[in-house]
Amino acid sequence: MRILVTGGAGFIGSHLVRHLLAGEENQVVNLDALRYSGNLDNLKDLDGHPRYRFVHGDICDAALVDRVMREERIEAVVNCAAETHVDRSIIEPGGFVRTDVVGTSVLLEAARVCGVTRFVQVSTDEVYGDVPSGRSKESDPLAPRSPYSASKAGADLLALSYFTTYGFPVMVTRGSNTFGPNQYPEKFIPLFVTNALEDQPLPLYGDGLQQRDWLYVQDHCEGIALVLEKGEPGQAYNVGVGEERPNREVAEAILGLLGKPRSLVRHVTDRPGHDRRYALDCGKIAKLGWSPRFPFGEALKATVAWYRDNAWWWQKIKSGEFRVYYEKMYGARLRDAQGGR
Ligand code: DAU
Repeated sequence: MRILVTGGAGFIGSHLVRHLLAGEENQVVNLDALRYSGNLDNLKDLDGHPRYRFVHGDICDAALVDRVMREERIEAVVNCAAETHVDRSIIEPGGFVRTDVVGTSVLLEAARVCGVTRFVQVSTDEVYGDVPSGRSKESDPLAPRSPYSASKAGADLLALSYFTTYGFPVMVTRGSNTFGPNQYPEKFIPLFVTNALEDQPLPLYGDGLQQRDWLYVQDHCEGIALVLEKGEPGQAYNVGVGEERPNREVAEAILGLLGKPRSLVRHVTDRPGHDRRYALDCGKIAKLGWSPRFPFGEALKATVAWYRDNAWWWQKIKSGEFRVYYEKMYGARLRDAQGGR
């Protein structure tokens, strides 16, 4: 199959490109704007790969998207391109609406006009909003609470509307918190791992008892690929493990793996509108034949080892744009912070 992966130079996108190329029948075109978190270092091993092509460009550029789909005779699209970080969406929401909503709309329209036969919109469990108890099912109403999750919910619903309105074969995946190698260090796990490696404080928001369901990136990619292959058009599929953990516990596990002291933890001012808990019912994707393969403890160990062994990858990032962001986001909070309990 000739597949267009958008955002393929990002974290989940780059793992997905590699996973799809493992299927010898697949050809993959990666369209990525290479903004701050898109990184060709993530795909160095694919240089010269005969079934892989990189195109530098923006999913909001309708003429480019249309040309790529026609010239490359694209049969399937997986949309991983997105602005993804909740904290950045609080500082600058406009870019999230542009890339996540407008960009998805451009892709859907080009794909429909060009006769694409499978389209997967990679969405998120955050579209359900805060889930104080129980588990979200795909049929639950969406109740996003941050500019990020609201933008993703817009894209998610727009994608599903293409099935209802045009009969266009679109599927949506709603994944939980994903982690693994190559994740930009603004996110919780890579930030805490790399800060700990540098003996820097770990900024834990609020009481640190917010819960997330951590999904290893390889498991997430296998879920997306299965939905691409076997998902029913017009359907959404939750992709998660079903094991929610408090952030504090994850921070302690990271420190334990690195042999670093608990005193590195700093309780800082909480994220505005911070969702306390996400939890998914994943029975629907299980019926397609997916289940997670990587236990959290082992996957976290492998992830920590990757960051320890690939300091060149994240040090380059942390000494660039990230420094300005970090000071803006954490500078004052860390100066006011309390030590770990
Ligand atoms: O649930 C899926 C979503 O997971 C994805 O759709 C998003 O793209 C992804 O960013 C992630 O959203 P979160 O806001 O849950 O992830 P983040 O890594 O930013 O934070 C995870 C938890 O850790 C959350 O409760 C906030 C907390 N946190 C995060 C950071 C960056 C801290 O306590 N301190 C921090 O410095």
